[in-house]
Amino acid sequence: MAREKWASKLGFMLAAMGSAVGLGNIWRFSYVAGENGGGAFLLVYLFFVFVIGIPLLLTEVSIGRKAQSDVVGSFAKLSPGTPWFFSGFFGVAASFLILSFYSVVAGWSVYYLWKYVTGDFFTTPEGGYEAAFGGFISHTWQPLFWHALFMVMTIGIVLVGIKKGIEAANKIFMPTLAILLIGLAAYSLTLEGAMEGVRFLFQPNWSALMNPAVYLAALGQAFFSLSLGMGAMLTYGSYLSKENKLPSATIGIGVMDSFFAVISGIVIFPAVFAFGINPSSGPPLVFITLPGIFDQMPFGGIVGLVFFFALALASLSSAISILEVPVAYFIRIFHWSRKKASVLTGAIMFLLGLVVSLGYGVWAGVSPIGDRDIQESMDFIASNILLPLGGLAMALFVGWYFKKATALEATDLTGNAFGPIWYGIVKYIAPVLIILIFLNAIGLLGM
Ligand code: PHE
Ligand code: NA
Repeated sequence: MAREKWASKLGFMLAAMGSAVGLGNIWRFSYVAGENGGGAFLLVYLFFVFVIGIPLLLTEVSIGRKAQSDVVGSFAKLSPGTPWFFSGFFGVAASFLILSFYSVVAGWSVYYLWKYVTGDFFTTPEGGYEAAFGGFISHTWQPLFWHALFMVMTIGIVLVGIKKGIEAANKIFMPTLAILLIGLAAYSLTLEGAMEGVRFLFQPNWSALMNPAVYLAALGQAFFSLSLGMGAMLTYGSYLSKENKLPSATIGIGVMDSFFAVISGIVIFPAVFAFGINPSSGPPLVFITLPGIFDQMPFGGIVGLVFFFALALASLSSAISILEVPVAYFIRIFHWSRKKASVLTGAIMFLLGLVVSLGYGVWAGVSPIGDRDIQESMDFIASNILLPLGGLAMALFVGWYFKKATALEATDLTGNAFGPIWYGIVKYIAPVLIILIFLNAIGLLGM
């Protein structure tokens, strides 16, 4: 059977942007930035995105396009008889860890969407949004229902295949999300006390830069947000043909993703300070601040409805790219049908997510790594360790295993003035930086 292909380069761009832009930009970015000092974190994060992230994104997509295979198969095909294919297993492992909690949190968003559809959240619920959210996530089966629903939608799209449906959907909701976020940012800035939030986000507190944890967190956030190091972009790249040029596409994806992160910071931090919420209150942050903003706006209920609809769609287009990583791999090695691979893999992820969800309820006291709860522990292993290691392997593979001419060819950089810069980054700068950040952070694992 012939391998599937994107209909066009635009189709690939949209799917890749759909993968990149998701909960990572809004939910994860704001709480990780909040926990790591705001402005200093933002600087380090953007530095990593542009110096390591975008060059590695180009690298990752080029591996998939060259090999025309999944994350394990691509390494095996391009370096037969070597152990390089092992690096693909990091990606497969990370996909299970990430999607299991991603789906739980996306389920929260779908629940919020539902609360706006029914009008329940048009006015402040009894005890406020904080209590409403806390009550919901600590409930045993309620969040599981939404987690299951989200997982079913994800499976439903992936089992259909590399479809025009998602390409078309992305075309509509990406601009919708952008317009909404920009509008909300403008509104958020008018809230009383907004400037405190703006200062928190943009005025670096230089002493935060002394903390090695900030660098690890920023690196993990850059990888997570760009969907990097796991093979999602590699797998999407494997459905591309050689005619589509990669450098402009990957820069577009990286810039777009950072834009969404910064804008959502401008939405959230002014509100955080205006409502007197602690910026380091962790994963619940946006689920408490956003409804608070909507509540104060004229027609806020409608805005909330549209916002959570867009957020749910953005999460869905990311989730399918995560599920596609193991699905593409299992289809090849087990000769499963796409349907069987999607359903089985998704079911396992649902079960893993069950543990995450209960970690906010009956298992709330469980903290596997340091003072991190179950979700944060899984996220830490996946985003801060597995993704950067996966990215490191890709950089070393293209920088050292390939000949220079092959590497430039694979990325469409032959004869391009940026070629040598990209190559220097992938061969030396990115690996050295990633290793230094890891070494620096050893000892804070708290394990
Ligand atoms: N980039 C996605 C987001 O920001 C999450 C993701 C991580 C997707 C890893 C694919 C791979 O929400
Ligand atoms: Na992102």
